[in-house]
Amino acid sequence: MLAAGARGRAIHGLDPDVDAAIAPGGGELSRTIAKMRLVKDEHELTLLRQTAADTVTAFEALAAALPAAVTSGEAHLEGVFLQHARTLGHGPAYNPVVGAGEHATVLHWMRNDGHVREDDLVLIDAGIEGRERYAADVTRTFPASGTFSPEQRAVYDLVFAAQETALALVRPGVTLRDLHTAAVKVIAAGLRRLGVLTDRVAGGLPDEQVVMRWMPHGIGHMLGIDVHDCLAVAAEAATIPLEAGHVITVEPGVYLSPYDTLVPAHFRGIGVRIEDDIVVTPYGHDNLTAALPRSSDAVERWLASLDMRSAA
Ligand code: GLY
Ligand code: MN
Ligand code: MN
Repeated sequence: MLAAGARGRAIHGLDPDVDAAIAPGGGELSRTIAKMRLVKDEHELTLLRQTAADTVTAFEALAAALPAAVTSGEAHLEGVFLQHARTLGHGPAYNPVVGAGEHATVLHWMRNDGHVREDDLVLIDAGIEGRERYAADVTRTFPASGTFSPEQRAVYDLVFAAQETALALVRPGVTLRDLHTAAVKVIAAGLRRLGVLTDRVAGGLPDEQVVMRWMPHGIGHMLGIDVHDCLAVAAEAATIPLEAGHVITVEPGVYLSPYDTLVPAHFRGIGVRIEDDIVVTPYGHDNLTAALPRSSDAVERWLASLDMRSAA
C-alpha cells in the first residue's frame, strides 16, 4: 500500500518494514513541515541567540581548560562542555567532538579519549541544546600550547580565509551552494600555495573536485530546533536562495590525514574547522557566535589572556 503511494499517515520507528517503505527523508508531510520551519520567527531567534550565547560561555571554559587537558586528555574537555551543556541548557545538541592532534583530522571524532599534547591543535565541535530544545553548533580549533606552529598557522589561516569569504557573501538571495563554491575556491588556491595541491596530485581533475579529499563536507546547513534542521529538505536547501530568518552554519575545514602520502610530511596530521552560527538578516547577516575569536592572532591573544587570568 505504501509502495503504491497510498495516502495516510505512517509512524516511524515501530516497524522496520514500514520504515523501509517510506521514502528516504520522510514523506510529503515532513517535507512540508521542514519547508515551513526554514524561516525562524522572532521567538525562535531569541532562543537560538540564547543557546549560541551559552555555547560561547562553554567555549570560554573550554579554552581556559586547555592547560589541564594537556595532563588529562580530550575527555577532560568533553566533561567541561557537558557540564556547561547540562547546567546552561538542556544538554548537548549532538555528540561533542574533541579531537587533538591527528584526531582533529577524523570526521567526526567522538571517542574523545585521546591525549592532548602540548604541540597539538585541538578541534572542538560542540553545541548546547537550550531548554526549549533549540540548538547551537560551534567549532573552534585551538593550539593546546596557546601558540600555533608555522604549519598549523598556515592551514588555520587558510580555513579562516575561506570562512571570511563565505561569511562576506551571506545575505538574502545567495545559496548555501554559492557559499560552498566560494569557500572551496579559497581552499584550493591556498592548498596550491602550500604545495599540498599540485598538478601531479590533481591529475587533470578540477581543483574544486580534488579539494573534496581534504574538505569532505559541505560549507554548512540549516540550524534550528534540530542541529541539522529541516533535514527533509536538506538537498533543496543547498540551492534555495537564503531568506531573512534562515539560520545556517558556516563551517569550512581542512583535514590533512597523518596517513595521506599525497600531503607534504610537515602538514600531515593537521585538522582545522571553524564553525559559526549565522542568522540571515534583510541586508546581510548576524553572527551569533562572533564573541569567540576566530583569526589565528585573535585566538592566540585570547588564550594568552586566559592563561594570565588563571595564573593570577
Ligand atoms: N556538529 C555537526 C556539524 O557540524 O554539522
Ligand atoms: Mn558542528
Ligand atoms: Mn554544523
